[in-house]
Amino acid sequence: MKEYIKNINTKIIIIDPDDIDWKLLQQAGQAIREGKLVAFPTETVYGLGADALNVEAVLKIFKAKKRPFYDPLIVHVSNLKEINDYVEVFPDVARKLGELFWPGPLTMVFKKRKLISDIVTSGLNTVAIRIPNHEVALGLIKEARRPIAAPSANIFSHTSPTKAKHVFSDLKGSVDIIIDSGDTAIGLESTVLDVTTTPLKILRLGGITFESLKRVVPGIIIATENTKVKRAPGMLSKHYSPVARLILVEEKNEEMLNRILKLALQYKNKGKKVGIIACKENFEKYPGFFVKVVGEAEDLDSCARNLYAQLRVLDELKCDIIISENFENKGMGRAIMDRLRRAAG
Ligand code: TXA
Ligand code: MG
Repeated sequence: MKEYIKNINTKIIIIDPDDIDWKLLQQAGQAIREGKLVAFPTETVYGLGADALNVEAVLKIFKAKKRPFYDPLIVHVSNLKEINDYVEVFPDVARKLGELFWPGPLTMVFKKRKLISDIVTSGLNTVAIRIPNHEVALGLIKEARRPIAAPSANIFSHTSPTKAKHVFSDLKGSVDIIIDSGDTAIGLESTVLDVTTTPLKILRLGGITFESLKRVVPGIIIATENTKVKRAPGMLSKHYSPVARLILVEEKNEEMLNRILKLALQYKNKGKKVGIIACKENFEKYPGFFVKVVGEAEDLDSCARNLYAQLRVLDELKCDIIISENFENKGMGRAIMDRLRRAAG
């Protein structure tokens, strides 16, 4: 295994966030400064990082992910003060949200300064910025002494990685270093909020819930496909997908169970291998199928945390079809439903 990893030029280093090996993290920071790609953990998902001020390095991100240039990147910084260097305007409301939710799974879109290249922002005059809530991510940014541009560390449009092995599986050979710090805590990406518009607009639901943002800024709205130009390709309809075809069943209760069983049987009879994403309560309701549990239905945080990893397990089992239960459309459930709908295309 070691030799194999060496041959494909991807080094994996293990860093315990509760007992950081600063020598190792310094090496990773140095790699960022040298224009290399370093995949690192955040509290949401693993990111594929490069020096945000080095265009050559940023180009490597697009190449490694097979990401189209029209999809802009998030710039990760380690403290609020740095942000003034990169944004034209730091609205008071954004400062307030930053003080409340950073470090954390909130990304805000600002009017950008020229220092941030058009390659990072796909030619937009705005830049997305976030301060991640993860000691290793924050340490890496500090050691690199650079802002770090980082999308999720997966092949474009694939399910985001919540474990280092997911990164390895998607990007081996094209990333220089993968920092393995175990599973990510939230499991879905950050909430992307446009603070350049009135009212403020959520471009992507994520780790900070609509409800908690609304408590601070009552007028906040969720952008829909219609009310929004395609500014965030995370909003593209086919995204966050497993390899298998995903079907999201939107009925509730008994109707949901019946519909899933009916569909699953239909596909099984056609010779297809069927996987099912379910809550813990329904684990035994689908005998004869590959059922993967994400958490108790009421515990939407747990369902969010486990969703991507369980989709990947069903892919590894070579399921042709994945049928998913639906989740309550509140709190983290909104982000879960958003990702499932997009993965279903
Ligand atoms: O949790 C996360 O946000 C993770 C971790 C690594 O921080 N990152 C992540 O990045 O999910 P990515 O590239 O997979 O998704 C970034 C989203 C995309 O939907 C992109 O279109 C949007 O943010 N975005 C980036 N810059 C933007 C901008 N200037 N205006 C509007 N949307 C932007
Ligand atoms: Mg992504």
